[in-house]
Amino acid sequence: MGIYYDDSHKVFHLQSDNSSYIIEIIKGDIPAHVYWGPKLEGREFQHPLNLVERCSFSPNYLLEDKNISLDTLPNEFPSYGNGDFREPALEVHLVDGTTVTDFRYKSHTINKGKPELKGLPSTYIESEEEAVTLEILLQDEKTGLNAVLIYTVFNDQDVITRSVRIENLGQDNVVLKRVLSANVDFHHSDYDMLQLSGTWTRERHIHKRPLVPGIHRIDSKRGSSSHQQNPFMALLAKDATEDYGEVYGFSLVYSGSFLAQAEVDQYGISRVGIGIQPFNFQWLLEPGESFQAPEAVLVRSSQGLGGLSRTYHRLYRTRLCRGEFRDRKRPILINNWEATYFNFNADKIKEIAYAGKELGLELFVLDDGWFGKRDNDDSSLGDWVEDRRKLPEGLGKLGEDITAMGMEFGLWFEPEMVSPESDLYRKHPDWCLHVPGHKRSLARQQLVLDLSRKDVCDYIVESVSSVLSSAPITYVKWDMNRNMTEIGSALLPPERQRETGHRYILGLYDVMERIISRFPHILFESCSGGGGRFDPGMLYYMPQTWTSDDTDAVERLKIQYGTSIVYPASSMGAHVSAVPNHQVHRITPLETRGHVAMSGNFGYELDLTKLSEEEREDIRKQVTEYKELRMLIQYGDFYRLLSPFEGNETAWMFVSDDKKEAFATYFRVLAEPNPPLRRLRLKGLDPVKSYKLQHNGEVYRGDELMYFGLSLPQREGDFRSLLFVLKEI
Ligand code: DGJ
Repeated sequence: MGIYYDDSHKVFHLQSDNSSYIIEIIKGDIPAHVYWGPKLEGREFQHPLNLVERCSFSPNYLLEDKNISLDTLPNEFPSYGNGDFREPALEVHLVDGTTVTDFRYKSHTINKGKPELKGLPSTYIESEEEAVTLEILLQDEKTGLNAVLIYTVFNDQDVITRSVRIENLGQDNVVLKRVLSANVDFHHSDYDMLQLSGTWTRERHIHKRPLVPGIHRIDSKRGSSSHQQNPFMALLAKDATEDYGEVYGFSLVYSGSFLAQAEVDQYGISRVGIGIQPFNFQWLLEPGESFQAPEAVLVRSSQGLGGLSRTYHRLYRTRLCRGEFRDRKRPILINNWEATYFNFNADKIKEIAYAGKELGLELFVLDDGWFGKRDNDDSSLGDWVEDRRKLPEGLGKLGEDITAMGMEFGLWFEPEMVSPESDLYRKHPDWCLHVPGHKRSLARQQLVLDLSRKDVCDYIVESVSSVLSSAPITYVKWDMNRNMTEIGSALLPPERQRETGHRYILGLYDVMERIISRFPHILFESCSGGGGRFDPGMLYYMPQTWTSDDTDAVERLKIQYGTSIVYPASSMGAHVSAVPNHQVHRITPLETRGHVAMSGNFGYELDLTKLSEEEREDIRKQVTEYKELRMLIQYGDFYRLLSPFEGNETAWMFVSDDKKEAFATYFRVLAEPNPPLRRLRLKGLDPVKSYKLQHNGEVYRGDELMYFGLSLPQREGDFRSLLFVLKEI
């Protein structure tokens, strides 16, 4: 495993646990993509790229060799202007008004380890032995622009990370119009493209479409990664399933507007590109400056989608998430949002917290409405001062009272926003994103603070820090409830206005880094109206995300199943809420709501003081059960068994690393008349181990459970679920 260079053939072989990725420098000039697939054991690769002369519509790039046309070459980093008519990875405007660049290979380095990307989130290593990094330097002689292609191979995982740094070593300004982080030209197009799409309260549903000639694009132009499209796409071989077959994943470690696309060209080559959204993006690069693109995480699996997901889960759990909570059990919380909305006072909050303590919960989270004069969503964002009308003794005292009950205390913020009806806005009306001469479009009666400005970032760090220091707070929910409009900054000159969106994200990363390093003992959960910014960029700073504002158990099956394609259970907040459910008004059994929420970072979001004795007893049991299973759920291997996108049933399971313990849940949405007798085939167990089912004491071997299956008892009614805990004996 490692990265090998064969100088005689000018071939790089990037070899990870089970994969090889091969790049050939064609004619000593152009880095061409040759192969990405199952591992090739030989370090030297024997097959030079096969290229032939095409018709006159594919221009000849090199006079001496008509076989070389950029129109047909699989290029690791295509730019525009000399014959590649497909989507480029780089697009520039030069000082003379032209757009043509001609990047050629100059040199490369191969080093142990993995460099950090300055100011950006990225996967990391804990020891130099974990990874090797290749940097290929390409140069455009005319402009003096360098493109440094950065590849890191993780030795024991099928992961390659990619990014690019553009350096201006020339004499003139260059305007970057598009800098994608990765480009891979697959040899053919016999793939389906998978994407995670949706909207608010319906995030990350799985969609697949066959590749055909043309461009297949997902993107966000909203200033954040978005509810609508997740910064992820995969190509699935036609015969790939959940458990078998070739799957290639592309995940962008970025929280702003993005683009991910596959373009099938005239010869069936599929060009996949992923990176910052080029639309409305531009970056002025002055001589001596450089621009670092975010990281793209490329994962390959021969074990279908399931294998792909487990690789992403492990990588993101252990080498993207950071801090004290990365490997720690996450607390079971009670959040007051759906219990009270804005209508609460300290007594009510303490009653809910106390009821939570009685039921075995560990953390009380005070949601929106504790600051300024926020009795509804019309006002006060930006004024991070406790509301003494609701909390007469202050936030600190409330925190102390809750802590004295034996509960931890958590708090909601929405630090990136400002309400026009706020002291902050009255004092600093130019601190929000805006464009002079245009009205400032409101969403939820709020505006977006301009995080491209240092003074605004400093204000956020100081105002949030001062609250965090004022009370015994151990958890923060960091919310963000609108997308960006009128994206402009009062401080940037005209030629840099289109940098605002990306500068905002860099500002956000800086703010989060400063706050989390000041408060390393606080667990941070990000949120954007639920899952509007559920992306790897946020997970680098905050190891968990509120998965969706939709807490209905049935809706959550699809949301959590789709989210699990990339993101581990330890990153997903999942709560039991009241019925009828507040988003879809469905009535589901408490048991089913519990079983769904137990597959993530478990919690409750309802008025615990209004429960019947029977409900409280059920919740006590759920909480005890979750505590026993918590480490397995949060840190075990995840296997999807039945898809909610394919039928009436959903099932998934978690298996411990040593395969001694497992936990499976099965859900049937609608009751069926006279149903067949069903068996649930488990996965990931040790075939020769014997497992005892904890609810009835029956013992089966792992192979029986996986190949014959677990006989499912029949349950009556809609929205039913079953839970199985297995332990090796
Ligand atoms: C949106 C979040 O997703 C909800 O959970 C809640 O915190 C509200 N914002 C509060 O305004």
